[in-house]
Amino acid sequence: MKSALTPLIGFQLTMLFTLQLNLLPAVSLPCRSFCGTIPVKYPFGVDEGCGAPQYKGMLNCSTDLFFLTPSGNYKVQSIDYDKKTVVVYDPAMSTCSILQPHHDFLMSDIQSAMIPPASDTVFVLLNCSIDSPVLNHYKSLCFNFSGHTCDELYGACTSFKLFRLLSNSSPPCCFTGYDTVKYMSMNILDCSHYTSVYDTDRLKGIGPLDWSYGIKLSYAIPDTGCERCMRSGGTCGFDTQTEGTLCICSSSSNSTRECAGGSLASTVGNQSPFKRSFRVLLSVLTAVLGAVL
Ligand SMILES: *[C@@H]1O[C@H](CO)[C@@H](O)[C@H](O)[C@H]1NC(C)=O
Ligand SMILES: *[C@@H]1O[C@H](CO)[C@@H](O)[C@H](O)[C@H]1NC(C)=O
Ligand SMILES: *[C@@H]1O[C@H](CO)[C@@H](O)[C@H](O)[C@H]1NC(C)=O
Ligand SMILES: *[C@@H]1O[C@H](CO)[C@@H](O)[C@H](O)[C@H]1NC(C)=O
Repeated sequence: MKSALTPLIGFQLTMLFTLQLNLLPAVSLPCRSFCGTIPVKYPFGVDEGCGAPQYKGMLNCSTDLFFLTPSGNYKVQSIDYDKKTVVVYDPAMSTCSILQPHHDFLMSDIQSAMIPPASDTVFVLLNCSIDSPVLNHYKSLCFNFSGHTCDELYGACTSFKLFRLLSNSSPPCCFTGYDTVKYMSMNILDCSHYTSVYDTDRLKGIGPLDWSYGIKLSYAIPDTGCERCMRSGGTCGFDTQTEGTLCICSSSSNSTRECAGGSLASTVGNQSPFKRSFRVLLSVLTAVLGAVL
């Protein structure tokens, strides 16, 4: 019994299976490629054995993506994979609208080496005591950026206006780089509050109310031949025991460099060999079904 509907049934069957096939990798692959709306790509990973081993345990994807450091977990605002930068936000720091007591921003040694704050991230130390090292012996660590002065902050921000009100003057303050807060704790620096601003090169002529508050980190990519793995449709990862690099091809197969049939995969897209042969099988099945019906 052949009817005009037969090709339609075959088509629907194919669509059904294709849909399921496309849903498969998302649940079965060991490496998540998104955390919320933020893409997670090499060298980062949020699952065990994913990304570069140097960045192991630095990110946590719970409700949102967090950057984990010895001084706390900082929410990741964005990652720019072209510029190799990550913007994180310290919810406990002061900003133009909120005053919160200082605390240290600490990174591990490997973090300081692999993903330090970018040079256009400025740490602002506010309400420093007259004994603060940055007003005395280490005065030279303070600078003005893009023509801005601390007085602007005390004048423009609702939160920082309080310092002027309470002291009837502008208490000392200092714009400085990450190295200063890396080598001197906030207690040593002796300033009661801090904030941080990024993209400072782009803030010429812009008032503190419109500055970008947060910390921009600049990361390095270890050269481990990940390109080759990605071209073959794989995801770069590492062996959790040996930390040797791995190319993760599917939930059931890893290889050291690239996924099997890498050259084939690049012509058919990112399909795994399993998916391709299953698709071929499906079209045969559909054809047979069409002939029988
Ligand atoms: C492949 O590597 C990932 C990440 O290291 C691991 O979770 C998974 O168990 C490995 N799979 C196989 C089959 O070795
Ligand atoms: C990641 O976040 C979750 C939820 O906040 C938490 O339970 C887990 O311990 C965190 N993992 C690490 C390594 O901090
Ligand atoms: C400013 O710093 C001084 C110590 O130098 C401190 O006593 C004062 O409470 C601070 N001001 C504010 C508003 O926290
Ligand atoms: C920053 O600018 C102010 C006001 O223009 C000036 O008094 C101060 O010396 C400058 N500081 C540095 C470190 O250049």
